[in-house]
Amino acid sequence: MFNNSDTVATSEATGFKGELLTTNDAANNDAQILFSTERDIDLYELEELCDRVGWARRPLRKVKKAIHYSFLVVSMWEVKGKRRRLIGFARATSDHAFNATIWDVVVDPRFQNRGLGKAMMKYTIKKLRSADISNITLFADPQVVNFYRRLGFLVDPEGIKGMFWYPE
Ligand SMILES: CC(C)(COP(=O)(O)OP(=O)(O)OC[C@H]1O[C@@H](n2cnc3c(N)ncnc32)[C@H](O)[C@@H]1OP(=O)(O)O)[C@@H](O)C(=O)NCCC(=O)NCCS
Repeated sequence: MFNNSDTVATSEATGFKGELLTTNDAANNDAQILFSTERDIDLYELEELCDRVGWARRPLRKVKKAIHYSFLVVSMWEVKGKRRRLIGFARATSDHAFNATIWDVVVDPRFQNRGLGKAMMKYTIKKLRSADISNITLFADPQVVNFYRRLGFLVDPEGIKGMFWYPE
């Protein structure tokens, strides 16, 4: 299991920019988990990751634009030697002052249930808090509400409802 502390160390050893997640996973000690906020993500690799959790495909030019205009882009990588593999992703949009909304949270199914989704969300929240953002929101699919609850997210605080408008 990966520990769920907030501890991350800056990575020099891997040759990739990012922060290493400290791990007590003895079985996995030849690989390292790295978080990055770099935006140079291979869109095809991201599409493959989203495919693995069954998300509907989106036009890559729009995904590229969404990443470009996001306030924060977080990627999670498994690093083995000189190779890295994209295993998680999240991004946030923001008004740069008060509010941020987290989108597209995904962990590769082969890496789920090891505490990595939680660690990636904590990293994302830490980055938003370090930018002095105090109001962090997201839209949870029904089956993951409790995942977010465990991270401290509240459903409908003070009766506030998420509302949606769709074109007809
Ligand atoms: C949701 C998701 C990101 C969770 O990632 P993960 O790496 O498996 O989660 P973790 O192992 O870090 O789990 C952290 C905690 O949440 C719990 N948890 C994980 N998935 C859960 C779920 N679907 N429902 C309720 N609790 C969940 C775990 O049991 C764990 O609890 P603990 O802290 O008491 O041990 C991952 O399952 C995923 O990518 N799902 C498909 C995409 C998706 O639905 N994204 C969210 C869109 S809103």
